[in-house]
Formats: sequence, structure tokens, C-alpha cells
Amino acid sequence: MMNTHVMDKEIGETRLDRETQGVIGKPVDRYEGPLKVSGKATYAYEYLADDKNVAYGFLVTASIGKGKIVKVDGSKALSAPGVLAVVDGDKILRASSQPMAPAAQTIDGEVFHYGQPVAVVVATSFEAARHGAKLVQVEYAPASGGRYSLEQVKDQGRASDQGVMPADTERGDFETAFAKAEIQFDQTYTTPSHHSSAMEPHASVAKWDGDKLTVWSSCQLLETNVQQIANGVGVPVENVRLLSPYIGGGFGSKLGIGPDAVLSALAARAAGRPVKLALSRPHVFQTTSRRSETIQRIRIGTTRDGHITAFAHETFAANSPGNGFFEPAGVSSVFLYAGKDRKVTHRLSETDVLMTSAVRAPGEAVGMLALENAMDEMAEKLGLDPVEFRKLNEPEVAPQDDLPFSSRKLVECYEEGAHRFGWDKRPAKPGSVCEGEWLIGYGMASASRANSLMKSSAEVEMTPDGRAVVRTAMTDIGTGTYTILQQIAGEMLGLPLDRIDVELGDTSLPSSSGSGGSWGANSAGSSVYVACEALIGEIAQRLGVEPDGLTLKDGHAIANNRQVPFTEILDGKSLMKLGTIKPGETSQNYNQASYGAHFCEVAVNAVTGETRVRRLLTVAAAGRILNEKTATSQCYGGQIWGIGSALTEELVTDERTGLLVNHDLAEYHVPVNADVPQLDVVLLPERDPHASPLAGKGIGELALAGVGAAVTNAIYNACGARVRDYPMTLDKVL
Ligand code: MOS
Repeated sequence: MMNTHVMDKEIGETRLDRETQGVIGKPVDRYEGPLKVSGKATYAYEYLADDKNVAYGFLVTASIGKGKIVKVDGSKALSAPGVLAVVDGDKILRASSQPMAPAAQTIDGEVFHYGQPVAVVVATSFEAARHGAKLVQVEYAPASGGRYSLEQVKDQGRASDQGVMPADTERGDFETAFAKAEIQFDQTYTTPSHHSSAMEPHASVAKWDGDKLTVWSSCQLLETNVQQIANGVGVPVENVRLLSPYIGGGFGSKLGIGPDAVLSALAARAAGRPVKLALSRPHVFQTTSRRSETIQRIRIGTTRDGHITAFAHETFAANSPGNGFFEPAGVSSVFLYAGKDRKVTHRLSETDVLMTSAVRAPGEAVGMLALENAMDEMAEKLGLDPVEFRKLNEPEVAPQDDLPFSSRKLVECYEEGAHRFGWDKRPAKPGSVCEGEWLIGYGMASASRANSLMKSSAEVEMTPDGRAVVRTAMTDIGTGTYTILQQIAGEMLGLPLDRIDVELGDTSLPSSSGSGGSWGANSAGSSVYVACEALIGEIAQRLGVEPDGLTLKDGHAIANNRQVPFTEILDGKSLMKLGTIKPGETSQNYNQASYGAHFCEVAVNAVTGETRVRRLLTVAAAGRILNEKTATSQCYGGQIWGIGSALTEELVTDERTGLLVNHDLAEYHVPVNADVPQLDVVLLPERDPHASPLAGKGIGELALAGVGAAVTNAIYNACGARVRDYPMTLDKVL
């Protein structure tokens, strides 16, 4: 039953390269699209719609940034119509911002951050619960000494060993090499806090059956999320089933559970009924997680003709006490450009604000705002074209450790992009091209995103009626997982797509990598591939042929001039195989990343400082593309995020209290349609034989990396304003 593929050697040609069915890679429409647009795809909060016994929870949140709870008085709330229970205590406090904290750690009424859940009011309707929450009176003992700004505590930063990369990487002697460099560059960039702001707010429905708990929630990584729920509620993980079949975006904010997951379960136990608990939009902003603000110093030393000899990227970020995750802002700087003597460092400081965690393209999203801006500044200093400067510093092997690149088409991306965009028409000098009061400029930037493969399993069942079902606890966060798993199974098994069902998002299914870090398609997809290989092996055996001599097409097995329908091979019984993919040695022996290049044209208003992005082209190479349409859509999303991080997005902290001030989508400015021009995406053909059996790499977060710098470099080219404090709002441009 168990078939495991460990990724420890190069992948040669596979069944996918034959493309017998012609569906792999094709721009197939989303499998679950019609369900979503017709309201039939059930999101977490919509479960138990007809259960008359269901109650509703609403959060009461802390109105201090640091201190202790003296008393929670729920008496007024309890006498309001419909209110069933007011639940408070340390388990409630722990549910925000501390999902990873050891359950044994005593928190004793402690408030960690402004907006932290303090109590849950449970009532017979949502409105009654919300009203009840306003009646709960909380007495606090505020503490002094709250740390609410990174700038204030930057120098107390430490090297954390709990990040997604080592805090420090160093090679040679940077300081000496930099001091000796013919041309030196030294600048500091700051980026603000960001919020994931997924369209679907975090929400959960919890139902107890004796000591068994079922939770429907909106989660990216079911495997770890179910454990977090069990820890938070205080029950064995075997007693919890978590379902997340449809998810309205996550962008990192659902890698961990929201407070709703644990609190709905605690509230359901207190009320003796199933409980639905949705976070309001302000609750999403204040109780889930955010991206840290960063301070980043970049120093580059080059020869007179532009070869980098010394490179340093030193970064500073914040997190709440006890959380070791740091924004890995230097992740690309470790391997993107040449330079013999180099260092990349990350320092993490504690602040008493909502915890920071992964937000879309953790690291690259803000690290490359600084890096790619610095590369533009350095190119200008050297009198080199920004594309030429980058090409001059394209390394043969990874510069930090001399590992070979598993595949890297960065130069091809530059060249294809420059050609398509008309980069040769770039205004030679800032401020030299105008249309009325609009100044026109071009900018470009590289994109890179480290690639990883995670352990993942899936079962594929061929049924006697000539259909197949794919089952895995993988999630589809809006990225197209349902569709690509269907395509992989269809291509492998020779079944038309309308004869393949895909079941996801349930911890009772085979455990999966989940969706995060752009690893989902490759990891979960590979597990489906492995399961299908096993099915093919079994079919070949039954027919007495070698698997390689077997072609599967349109529900038939074809070998030795014989064509046998699957229904005959199965003979009335299902055939099911479990497939597992595991990362192996290739991840240590190769430097793996996806690459791209962005080209942007902006118009900057000489009177108001307003920037309009006019054109944006991204050329990307990310191994085998599994579905051209969903991959392109991911790139559109990245481009739009990039525009936002360049021009508008900024989560503001009140430095007196730690309150996240602009905690809704009216004040936290993500780009809207009017901010987004015609977007162009070109995907270059590529296979990465070291990445996975699919020969694909991650693409979800690639297109976000660097985009913002392409925009701000274009602003500089348009008007000569070089702003190093993101976002580049009009007051800074003027
Ligand atoms: Mo992504 S920030 O790993 O969901």
C-alpha cells in the first residue's frame, strides 16, 4: 500500500513528459470555480447552517497593550437577551498571538498585546453575542514599559535560531573587503508592518460529541493546525478532526490557527452547544498575525567596472516575547548575486505588539524591496544599466557555499523581459520624459524565491465505474490545488478530468504538506504522482507487461497492441494506492529557487507626487508549470501585492499603546482595480530535475519578490526621488 519517493536523485523523463492526455500544464479552468461562484463551496463559517442548536461567539478584546487582567465581569452581559455564557481565563488569553507557546507555560492573566482576546460571549444569535461583548466589563492593571516600536529596541536584537533560515550567514571577511572596494555603497531602508488581509476572515465552527471535537476552520496547514487546536483546548490530538475544504485566501495568516479555532471549541464546551465564531475584520487585524516592520542596511563594494567584491545585508525585525520567528529579509541576498566576501544577518527584538509571522513571501517581499532598490542605486553610481549590472554579477554557483543551482534562468528572464518591455527606450536620465504634468520612468528588479519540497501523502482510488478519486489533507487556499491535483491524476492515469474527483481539507485524509511557502503544488502534487505510479505498476502487473510499455488513455490501458478498459482490469473492485513524497539529499546538494524579472513603467505627477503604475511585466521561470492559468493568476496576485508594498500598504502601530491603528480595509490600503494597470506575465519553459518528480518549483510567492522595487526604481527614473522608507506615498515623493 505504502509507496514513498525520496527526492535524492535527478528525475529523468517521466510519464508527464509524454503528455499523452495533453492536460498537464494546460490553462484548465478551476475545478471548484463553479461551486464558489454559485455559493455551493462551503466555507468554514457556513457549516451547521441548519442546526437549530448552534450558538454564536463574539470576542471581547484587550484595551491595554501590556499588563494584567484583574477581573472580567460578565454579569451584565449574562442578563442581556440571548446570552448563554461568558468564557474567560488563561486559555482564552493564550489563544491569541501565542499559538506556539508551550501549553504548560503559566500566563496568569497576562495581556501581551493590545486587542488580545480576553473573553468570548456566547449567545443564541450573532447579534446578541456582539451586543453581549459590549457589556462585558474588564478591569486591568496596566504595566509600564511597553515596547511598541522596533526603532526603539533595535539595538537589543538577538540572533534567533527559530526562524526559517539561519540568522547569520557569513563568508570571507566582509569589512576588510568593503573598506578596500573601489566603489562603496551604504544605505538603510525601512519597511512597515504588513497584514495578510485574506478576503475570508478567520472563522470556525466547533462541535463536541462527548470528548470528540470537530472544528471547521480556515487553515493552511491542517497537520500542525489540528495539533495547535488540541494544545489550546487541552485534549489529545486524536480526539480532534479539523476540516478546511475551501479557504478564501491565507497569505500566511492561516499557517497558524486564528484564535477562533480554539475559542469556538472552548465556547462550545461552556455552552453545551456547537458554536460558530467569526472574527470581525478588526479582530482579524488585531488577533491573528502580521509581518514585522524591518530596518535593513545594505552595503555593496564593487570594482570600478561593477563586479561586486563585498556584500552585506543586515536586517532588524520584531516579534512578541517568546516567538522566535524573524522576518527572513536577507533570504535572497544569500545567493542572488556574486561577491566573494559577504554577510547576511538577522536580528530579532521583542516588542509588545501582536506577534509577527509569515505574510506572503516572508523575507523576499520586504527584503527585496531593499536589495533591489540598492542594486538600482549602485548601478547608477557605476554608470551601468540596471540589467547589465545584474548580469555582470550573475554567479556560476551559489556564492555563499558554492552549491550548484538546481536550475536558474534569471538571465533568460532579464533578456526576455527587457526585449518584450522595450527596456532600450528607458529614459536616460530622471525627469527627462514628461507628458504634461506627468513624469515617465522605467524600473526593473529581479525576483527570486527559495524553493522547498515537503513531506506529503495522498491516496488515489480507481473505482470500478471507471472513475478516480484523489484524497489528501492538503488545502486549496485559492491557489488551484483541486485543479492541479486533478490534472496530475488525469495525465498519469489516462482519465478525462470530469472522471476525477478531488477531496481535500480534512485531517481524516492522508497527511499533507498543506499550503505554505509556495511548496504546496510541488509537494502535494508529487504525492499524487507517486500514488499514480503505484497504480500504474499494479495495472501493468495485472496485464503482465512492464509499466514503461503501458500507455493509459481515455480510460483504457494500452500495451502490446491490446486495449483494455479500466473497468475490465478492476473487475468490480476498487484499486487504491497511497503515495508519499519526501525531501531527500537534493535539497542539501543544490541551491534551489525560482527566478524572475519585473519591468515597470510609472507616471509620477509633478504637482501632486501621485504615482500611477502604467505597465508591469513579469517574466518567471519556476520549473514545470502545472497549470498555466492558475500559475499566471498567482503571478498577477504577486504583482498586485508588489504595487501595494511600493505605494500604499502600511500597518501603523500607535507607539503609546501598541494598538494597530488602521485595522480594517478602509484604512489599510491594499491596491484596488484603479491602482492596477494591464498586467503581463510570461512563464518561461523550464524543468528542474532536482526539485521533485514533477520537475516543478514554487511560483505562488515568486512574483511578489522584487515587484515593489521595480515600481520604486521606476519612480526614481521618472522624477529623481529616491525614497528608502516604504511605502512611497506621495508626501515622500514630493
Ligand atoms: Mo505563505 S506566507 O507561506 O502562506
